[in-house]
Amino acid sequence: MITSLRLLTKEDVTSLADAANFPSIGETLRNGFPYPYTVQHAESFIDIASSSDTDLILAIVDTSSPTTILGIISLNQTKLNDPSVMELGYWLSPPYWNQKIITTSISQILRHEPPPHLRSQKMFRVEALVQLDNLNSAKALLKNDFKRDALLRHHNYSVKEQRRLDCHLFSRNVSRSDSPVSTPKQGQNLAYVRGNFVHVNGPAADIEILMDHLMQIDLTTGTIEKFEPASSAWAQTLTSKPSIPYLYKSINPASDFITPGFIDCHVHAPQYSFAGTATDRPLMGDDGWLASYTFPSERQLSDPRLAAKVYEKVVKRLLREGTTTACYFATIHLEASLILADMTEKYNQRALIGKVCMDQNSPSDYIETTEESLSQTEAFITEVQGRDSFKAGNLYPVVTPRFIPTCSKELLSGLGRLAEKYDARVQSHISESIDEVAFVKALGYEETDAEIFRRHSLLRNSVMAHAVWCSREDLALMKAHNSGIACCPLSNVYFASGILDLNVCQEVGVNVGLGTGISGGYSPSMMNSQRTAVVTSRVANFSKGNPIDYKRAFFLATLGSARTLQLEHLVGNFAVGKRFDAVCWSVEGGGGGVDVFEGDTSEDIVQKILTNGGREDIARVYVNGKECV
Ligand code: GUN
Repeated sequence: MITSLRLLTKEDVTSLADAANFPSIGETLRNGFPYPYTVQHAESFIDIASSSDTDLILAIVDTSSPTTILGIISLNQTKLNDPSVMELGYWLSPPYWNQKIITTSISQILRHEPPPHLRSQKMFRVEALVQLDNLNSAKALLKNDFKRDALLRHHNYSVKEQRRLDCHLFSRNVSRSDSPVSTPKQGQNLAYVRGNFVHVNGPAADIEILMDHLMQIDLTTGTIEKFEPASSAWAQTLTSKPSIPYLYKSINPASDFITPGFIDCHVHAPQYSFAGTATDRPLMGDDGWLASYTFPSERQLSDPRLAAKVYEKVVKRLLREGTTTACYFATIHLEASLILADMTEKYNQRALIGKVCMDQNSPSDYIETTEESLSQTEAFITEVQGRDSFKAGNLYPVVTPRFIPTCSKELLSGLGRLAEKYDARVQSHISESIDEVAFVKALGYEETDAEIFRRHSLLRNSVMAHAVWCSREDLALMKAHNSGIACCPLSNVYFASGILDLNVCQEVGVNVGLGTGISGGYSPSMMNSQRTAVVTSRVANFSKGNPIDYKRAFFLATLGSARTLQLEHLVGNFAVGKRFDAVCWSVEGGGGGVDVFEGDTSEDIVQKILTNGGREDIARVYVNGKECV
């Protein structure tokens, strides 16, 4: 069931009684609040809505009798923005009229976790009226708890276009069997997640679906401490207590699922500004994609303000799509590269970031000297390695020669030395396309990209993008040097004139993870990467057979990527000891891309999510046990 969230101007609120297209509240007010409300209450309600310190009014409506409002909460934005405030507003339901008794949080209410005196209520829904003077504060407010963009997108409204907005909230019927929950308080160390989990656990790409499990998380580090079926003695002891602090508890026991956060092994963060365009050129050449679109666009990020804008957008977008870890290329600019690091810290995304290096075959206004490139790379590494987020396993510097054509031999050797000195990871592009391989040959090299990187000590803990034209020997060389591949299926369709043979990679045993390849790949969604990997593999294997399926793509996007980025000890699945980086899927209601039918098995629903699910189906995203965006 879907209920409405409506943003109203002050005038809207005062004429609310006539709001015909908002039937339950409009009717309720017009009819003078049938039980338990009176006309007096309706007037007070409008008074409160118009008062200066009210930003939001939530009405809790009895679903069995839609004109019965069980309670109204008026909320103040300042309080709303402070997660430690538990007394959020005035609970206006008799007998507590006008008393400050709300001891639950807004996120709980929106998750349909009833306030104490409503716990015996069988079914209710939350309707929200937001009364705000301007849409900027609406934005700030919605960002906090309402998943603003998900909601707005749902109806294709944009803040710019619409002063008056109709949005939809995920809404669930709450039954008595849903025990009341409370969000973790400040200073509380343990929290619990209950629901159905999906992950890959083990060497093969077999998906494990764990129905109704309870997970204990240490909130100080976000580490998974215990993970058992909800029927286990340990879980039963905990869940029988009314006070168990849930970080997240899925509402629809049959159709909600929790997957590990997705790990994007290859994103050019600055290129996000033109994602979805520039799909008409080959990679190389004077009027190719790099020369025409990419270099001119990246060059502009010498302006730190622009860098901050672009990087804020890409980090938030990826998080919303469920990408909890991303391996980023920045630009050649040290300052802007550090801004990208700041953004990932600000929005709580795990990130590996490289300042891009290029000292040849680059435009005169987007190039560095060899010395600049090396000294600024060193400065970037030392700055990032000095940060707490590096020590916490949330942020890593990556030595980033753009690709062989733009790096002199001196630069490659120097970068190899830096990677060794600081024990840093390395990323680059390797044998991506026919034109790139030809360009390297034309530079006079007789070796392959893999051999060139190895000779310069740059095949060490490396993640190399594309690798479509690597030979079996190249792949074996990468494996021997603890290096893996960022497979970017969508980008490969545009540039590579080929498809990475995932079966050969598996035979050789080289690690492969998945990437969006933004913006050679136009989509920021790792769900799209998985699907494109499946589709392209099917096309490539029409005659040979054995294409990859959705399970193997899911493995590549989670555990496979974690291995490729040398992060398997931290993320990739829900093994005890790893961090709780997760995507909580809630598809009931049909607002997203998945419809569930009677008779669907849990495997069917998981397959539907992985095949048709999108950001509208994502209820929450967590990194280190903290909710993001
Ligand atoms: N090779 C060198 N730079 C790039 C880039 O930005 N994108 C892709 N796909 N390949 C590259």
